[in-house]
Amino acid sequence: MAFDELLHSIAKLESDIASGPIVPAVTPQEIRSYLAARYDFAKPLALDDVGADVERMLRRWQVHVTHPRYFGLFNPSVTPASVVGDTLAAMYNPQLATWRTSPAANEIERHSLAWLTGKLGFPAESAASFTSGGAEANLSAVVVALTRAFPGYGERGLRGLSASPTIYLTGEAHHSFSKIAHMTGLGREAIRPVATDANLKMDIADLARRVVEDRRRGLAPFLVVGTAGTTGAGVIDPLPELGRFCRSEALWFHADAAWGGAAILSPRLRSCLAGVDSADSITCDAHKWFSVPMAAGMFFCRHPDAVGAAFRVETSYMPGKTAGGVRDPYTTSVQWSRRFIGLKLFLALAHHGESGYVQMIEHQARMGDVLRASLGRVGWRVVNTTPLPVVCFTRDGLDTGKFLAALYQRQIAWMSEVRLGGGAPVVRACITSFRTTEADIEWVVREMDRLIEVTT
Ligand SMILES: Cc1ncc(COP(=O)(O)O)c(C=O)c1O
Repeated sequence: MAFDELLHSIAKLESDIASGPIVPAVTPQEIRSYLAARYDFAKPLALDDVGADVERMLRRWQVHVTHPRYFGLFNPSVTPASVVGDTLAAMYNPQLATWRTSPAANEIERHSLAWLTGKLGFPAESAASFTSGGAEANLSAVVVALTRAFPGYGERGLRGLSASPTIYLTGEAHHSFSKIAHMTGLGREAIRPVATDANLKMDIADLARRVVEDRRRGLAPFLVVGTAGTTGAGVIDPLPELGRFCRSEALWFHADAAWGGAAILSPRLRSCLAGVDSADSITCDAHKWFSVPMAAGMFFCRHPDAVGAAFRVETSYMPGKTAGGVRDPYTTSVQWSRRFIGLKLFLALAHHGESGYVQMIEHQARMGDVLRASLGRVGWRVVNTTPLPVVCFTRDGLDTGKFLAALYQRQIAWMSEVRLGGGAPVVRACITSFRTTEADIEWVVREMDRLIEVTT
């Protein structure tokens, strides 16, 4: 199959989006009325017409996360190779629940994950699977860690345990863990917040104190989550110290590197992820800094037996065991029917090569430095410290809500608001697009300067 036409459409869309608006102004009612007036599904419509109409809706009524001036929540611009991958996956629709139904697809995923397993410094025999995203990967970590720490958990559940299991993370960790605590039956109170230092990194002394205290109270600490690139401020917890602490206390160490994990490919940045290889499990999303379309997360675990124990299942209706001892994905992960998630990453890695990825990632990190420097030159105060391209900033008297509303209304850029360490709101900008240039950043900072008068 030749991809010329698809690549042509992708390139055209890219340039249309770059020269168009970023933020829509629309109400739910407007879209609902539009849909109700056109789509009652009573009779068939021509595919060309419906396709064109949906494209118009997407153009008008979407924050364009692939715009070079979308400085948002880790949603990336997507590489053309990865779009080709996702298209092929939809066309062939392979079922990856079992190896036998999709040998090529399963092995392509295994090959890609094995390469990344090595990059992350995990042993070759580690378990790895594609997930729908970081939340599913984090859920996998909690379920596997529970299974390993409490052998009765799988059969008798939490009610079979004599003490309540607890999880340690900072207030800057991703809030998927609150939902996971709820969903797994641990309860949201099982999340024990650990203090942070002045740079919002986990305070290991506070962690140690809380673990001792909770054990004294009869709780059962089992898991510590260190974040490698927090959602709010891109902060990296002290991973080597966390690894050592967890080993000495027999606690599971999960590294949530959903966004920051891609930095492992960069010779310039990888030292900031030192210690990630001491984790028991890692979350790393392809649909963040690996710049492939949603939904593509990854879960890595150095204890394949614990993964097998957590997700084991026997049925008579699934194909029997595969020769060669290959474990079917439906017995080693949360999902059952499984899309060929990994193809978009495989194609992008093969097409760009490691060097292409290093260039993309380091370019974005450099653009983060450019943004920090430009903001500093015109009187903004950068309030977070990270080598990664997330920049949180403010200035005296700024009304963040008003400022962002004006930023959107004038189509200058998309940024968001965040409260770091529970403090006052600040503006958060992340370089999530490999297409963002220095000229984009200088233009945005100049335009923001003009907004200050109306928003302070
Ligand atoms: C650090 C971190 N972990 C987990 C997640 C959840 O990932 P997803 O949205 O892919 O489920 C995010 C999302 O931004 C994140 O920033």
